[in-house]
Amino acid sequence: MPAESVVPPSGASPAETSWFEQYFPNTGAREPRSWLRSSAPELSLNGQWRFRYSTRADQPEDFPAPDFDDAAWDHLEVPAHWQLNGYGKPAYTNVQYPFPVDPPFVPDENPTGDYRLTFTVPAGFLAAGDRALLRFDGVDSAYRVWLNGTELGRATGSRLASEFDVTSLLTASSDGVNTVAVRVHQWSSASYLEDQDMWWLSGIFRDVTLLARPSGGIDDVFVHADYDHRSGQGTLRVECPGDGWLTVPELGVEAAANESTEIAGVEAWTAENPRLYDAELRTAAETVSLRIGFRTVAIVDGVFTVNGAPIKLRGVNRHEVNPDRGRSVTESDMLADVLLMKQHNINAVRTSHYPPHPRFLELCDEHGLWVVDECDLETHGFFLNDWRANPTDDARWEEALVDRMRRMVQRDKNHPSIIMWSLGNESGPGRNLTAMAAAAREIDGSRPLHYEHDWSVPDVDVYSRMYAPHDEVAQIATGTEPPLPDAVADRRRRAMPFVQCEYAHAMGNGPGGLLEYQQLFESSDRCLGGFVWEWIDHGLRQLDSDGRERWGYGGDFDEPLHDGNFVADGLIFPDRTPSPGLLDYAAVIAPVLIEADPAGGIRLTNRYDFADTSGLTFDWILEAGGVELRRGALSVPVITARGSAVVAIPEEAVTADRIDGERWLTVRARLAAASTFADAGHEVAFGQVQVPADSVPDAILPPPADVLPVRVGSQIVIGPAVFDARTGSLLRIGSLAVLESPRLDLWRAPTDNDRGEHGQPVEPVWRAMGLDRLMHRIVSVSVSGGSLVVRSRVGAARTDLLFDVQYTWTASGEAGVALEVAVSANQELTAPLPRVGVRLRLPRSVDEVGWFGRGPGESYPDTGYANRIGQFAATVDGLQTPYVYPQENGARSETRWVSLTADDDRGIVISGEPTFSFTARRWSSEQLDHATHEAELHDEDAIFVTLDAAEQGIGTASCGPGVLPQYQLRALPEPFRFAFSAV
Ligand code: GAL
Repeated sequence: MPAESVVPPSGASPAETSWFEQYFPNTGAREPRSWLRSSAPELSLNGQWRFRYSTRADQPEDFPAPDFDDAAWDHLEVPAHWQLNGYGKPAYTNVQYPFPVDPPFVPDENPTGDYRLTFTVPAGFLAAGDRALLRFDGVDSAYRVWLNGTELGRATGSRLASEFDVTSLLTASSDGVNTVAVRVHQWSSASYLEDQDMWWLSGIFRDVTLLARPSGGIDDVFVHADYDHRSGQGTLRVECPGDGWLTVPELGVEAAANESTEIAGVEAWTAENPRLYDAELRTAAETVSLRIGFRTVAIVDGVFTVNGAPIKLRGVNRHEVNPDRGRSVTESDMLADVLLMKQHNINAVRTSHYPPHPRFLELCDEHGLWVVDECDLETHGFFLNDWRANPTDDARWEEALVDRMRRMVQRDKNHPSIIMWSLGNESGPGRNLTAMAAAAREIDGSRPLHYEHDWSVPDVDVYSRMYAPHDEVAQIATGTEPPLPDAVADRRRRAMPFVQCEYAHAMGNGPGGLLEYQQLFESSDRCLGGFVWEWIDHGLRQLDSDGRERWGYGGDFDEPLHDGNFVADGLIFPDRTPSPGLLDYAAVIAPVLIEADPAGGIRLTNRYDFADTSGLTFDWILEAGGVELRRGALSVPVITARGSAVVAIPEEAVTADRIDGERWLTVRARLAAASTFADAGHEVAFGQVQVPADSVPDAILPPPADVLPVRVGSQIVIGPAVFDARTGSLLRIGSLAVLESPRLDLWRAPTDNDRGEHGQPVEPVWRAMGLDRLMHRIVSVSVSGGSLVVRSRVGAARTDLLFDVQYTWTASGEAGVALEVAVSANQELTAPLPRVGVRLRLPRSVDEVGWFGRGPGESYPDTGYANRIGQFAATVDGLQTPYVYPQENGARSETRWVSLTADDDRGIVISGEPTFSFTARRWSSEQLDHATHEAELHDEDAIFVTLDAAEQGIGTASCGPGVLPQYQLRALPEPFRFAFSAV
């Protein structure tokens, strides 16, 4: 049968419209070069452009001509994504392609943006003989560009720069008007290479600049600045294509370009001390300003070193996101990211999964972050088809892949912060990776190469894994991992440093298990450390149908295919507010470990790789029952990098005034002087040591009181507590009504980690057990031995898993009542429980919360390391953590007592033994469970309080291992006790 002829719907022939479906469609751009700060004139073309949107790619190309009338077009800001400005919609997928996998072709429904800008080149912009370039720093995903009606070229590589020579087309006189026209397609062959787990967002989203290139100027520079840690000598060679004169005033360097200069006594660049030397490379026509950092990266005997010292990466994976602007981030977003990272002890960034805006790398140089710069490559969607036709392993794609690698290395090669190049992410194994690696090495042999997704690691220098569970990391740390089938590959891999390029999936509440990972990383020099997945939630600001502002995630933009809230898995919320996970990470990776020494005193371990502790001051605060008694400076000898010292507990802290209550000594390490990222006094680490004190009461609960239950009509009264005689329910304590009596509660609104999308989910097991819908049946209510005893049986529809509960109420203390809860199950538990405790409901007025326990933030068995034991206060609203997807949050653990009071200070105090965990919310766990966005949660006209004797940990099963065995709630706790009293 003859092939049917295909008639394009709107005039253009398929051949004309499908340039962007070639394996490597790029034409016209110049050779890549470094991103430089130059004295040559530049004209930013950012601003309001004329814009026309079509839902297809095959509209007539009628608009490049200067005299085209675009008066009817809209305006669109450049840089920006069109989907976030009213054209089309954002779409989120993780692995799956949102179009048929038919490489290199894309659907006809291919949103397309036509852009036009008319601009005037300032007088004197170009001198005779100068050239002019038009640079696009980022356009997603494929574009064709014209100047004054003539095509300049076609480009793909969304997060990479392209420069076009416009010299002959530019009307450079003062009244010369120029018209740049760009057609951008959302989908192209390049989309197959850009399947990163993020929003699909299109358009000119990074800067557009017109650059003058002076004749006799400096087109490219490659700074080679090595540091010899044995001699303290720097070796500097600034390579450039022509002649040039280099000056580094601070070092007295005056040298010709391309000449190697040895400099004694330079200060090395490290992430801890980001020492940069300002330099200039000059020709008669142009001066390029450079910021030089001397450092040498080397893998020595399987250990990753910088300047001769092993380093430990305490990193994060960073996508570029702003909740209103998508990947079109601003300078202030970039600075905020860097400062927040530094303030939270993070020392490394993997630019997942594409080269960032060039300014971000400058900020990493300036403030000190180790960077793994990753190429704009991910073909993960082919995995869903068994990697069939994967571009990574198909020679027809080689040029496209190698081009991406070359463009990244060339653009970014001058940043001292970059210590590794990464070939890309999740693209399977394949021959084109070998070609990319070779291309990178040809340009720059000084930096090791990284790539995770080929575990036989033929092309790279480090052994990288993602989400390896703790036991696997333990094996690798000790070199006892199972061998590869190929003995040569195995030997090679065994001799490599190990890095977890992604771990500890920070989705929703968590990640749990951070501490144990960190301990493993610290245990061996083979472990280079890791990068938490990920830095920021990619939620996009939107209004829901009720006009409430919320963080939109996959599915909120009517995508037919999407991956839900998996896009919200960062350590900071979309608006860059730190989540508890970030605070936890900061504590777990703190540069000084402060702990009780088993032999007495306080052990301080310096975990900096280079710096001693002279930049820090130490102090102590002594509290009894959470009330400060004294504070003072702690004298600590200067501890060298990776060294430790033990200091005695200060005499004044031991002999402080006798005051009742547990005594805790908090030792803090703070910055002695202001740094680029924080003020003097900024806390980098803390540790707590319990100090023995004979005045600590033996028990938290008040002793039983000699008050017997009294029947008064239909009620039973025990001291201040009034119960319903028929049901045994607590109705009142003092004047405070109890809206729902404390009763067994085993449920928590599943966390993203409980839901375990890419791990072991526990949520379905919990629902099968019926823990989300327990029903209670009172078996008996009796008064016996001075107590009110209520027996009940608890179970869920459909299941015969039953819990017997005995509540024993006894008068306690001067004005209180104690509750003992004993729970047993009629069957062996086959899965860990979410929690074991009681829930009660109180009037909405008691919304001021005070407690003595772990705080001020939330904590679970395997999280909350940022919190300390002390006395804290918050409102009920202030206890909530607004995770993008509603889920269990806000628990305060190791609580000794909690008070809930109203404006008039009346309310209730609850203490628990030995300690307990509580939450207080304006909504029920059921509402929290059913809501899909934070903004939906509404006040239920009460305060719901949970009091737990035991809880399940959090883990990181949203992508990775679940809760470690020691944090799983596998057995019902012994009978547990609370005391309630009115205040
Ligand atoms: C990894 C991937 C990341 C992200 C993460 C889960 O496989 O490299 O981009 O998808 O899983 O959030």
